[in-house]
Amino acid sequence: MTTNAQGSGKRAVKAVIPAAGLATRFLPATKAVPKELLPVVDRPVLQYIVEEAASAGITDVLLVTGRGKTSMVDHFDRRPDVEQRLEEKGDTERLAAVRRTSELADIYTCRQGEPLGLGHAVGTAASHVGDNPFAVLLGDEFVDEGSPLLPDMLDLQARTGGIVLAFIEVKPEETSRYGIASVRESDLGEGVVEVTGLVEKPAPSEAPSNLAVVGRYVLPGKIFDAIADTKPGSGGEIQLTDAMAALLEAGTPVHGIVYRGIRYDTGQPLGYLQTVVQLAAQRPDLGEEFRAWLTDFVGGQKG
Ligand code: UTP
Repeated sequence: MTTNAQGSGKRAVKAVIPAAGLATRFLPATKAVPKELLPVVDRPVLQYIVEEAASAGITDVLLVTGRGKTSMVDHFDRRPDVEQRLEEKGDTERLAAVRRTSELADIYTCRQGEPLGLGHAVGTAASHVGDNPFAVLLGDEFVDEGSPLLPDMLDLQARTGGIVLAFIEVKPEETSRYGIASVRESDLGEGVVEVTGLVEKPAPSEAPSNLAVVGRYVLPGKIFDAIADTKPGSGGEIQLTDAMAALLEAGTPVHGIVYRGIRYDTGQPLGYLQTVVQLAAQRPDLGEEFRAWLTDFVGGQKG
């Protein structure tokens, strides 16, 4: 055993989605529209994320919003006027799609008055979450629904009681864009590693591995005390990585699951475009026509 199993055996049922950032990489689109509401085909990014949480058994989702971003919460409300119109038209498919958004999970919201960093945003969830373990899903990325990641993370956290991270393997030249972990083997399951350290955005020559932290975490309730004790770090922001590093230092088990499925990163224009194209191409209703058009377009036959 590489660590003592000290978990409660119970899976976390609450999730926090920090979505109060300024989204500077997507300006000017995000001056008035939150990047979390940008559509991927016909659903906003945020809906994919709440769906990912709900299908992992999360029943309670807290959206951390900020200035100009309240509209995100409206997306999960009922719309009786729209539903009535669809009912009158007999459009049962769209009616079900509209209703579904308000049935995915119990949605709560809290405010981050100023975007002081991801750690600070997670810290605003303290009173809602209390002393329980919880998941954090960043508001601008999600994974392929056919190869989910969160259920394994929740199971692992229930066993260890510690922190569970998710990693992707990146190319050496990409390490400076991510938090990179130093790890050792673990016998807690296929694809599971024990984390011994975290380095923020290292140069390739300094990177301890090619395992990059992505935007899914399962955290114990004691992270809130660690966040409260965390001073502003890189970029003057209160970093979640610093709070997690303090818990690691104090002996909290930290594990990571290496994810090998498709991850969609919609936080910047190129990743967003790739996401839209991939998901549009897979859609049963319009995928065939879209793929045919795309093939012609790429072949230079369509303008
Ligand atoms: P990002 O690092 O993507 O920051 O945050 P950002 O502000 O959204 O975008 P850029 O880098 O300026 O383009 C990751 C997640 O954490 C949230 C963001 O909304 C995003 O979902 N976040 C970040 C907060 O909620 N509050 C913060 O203070 C910082």
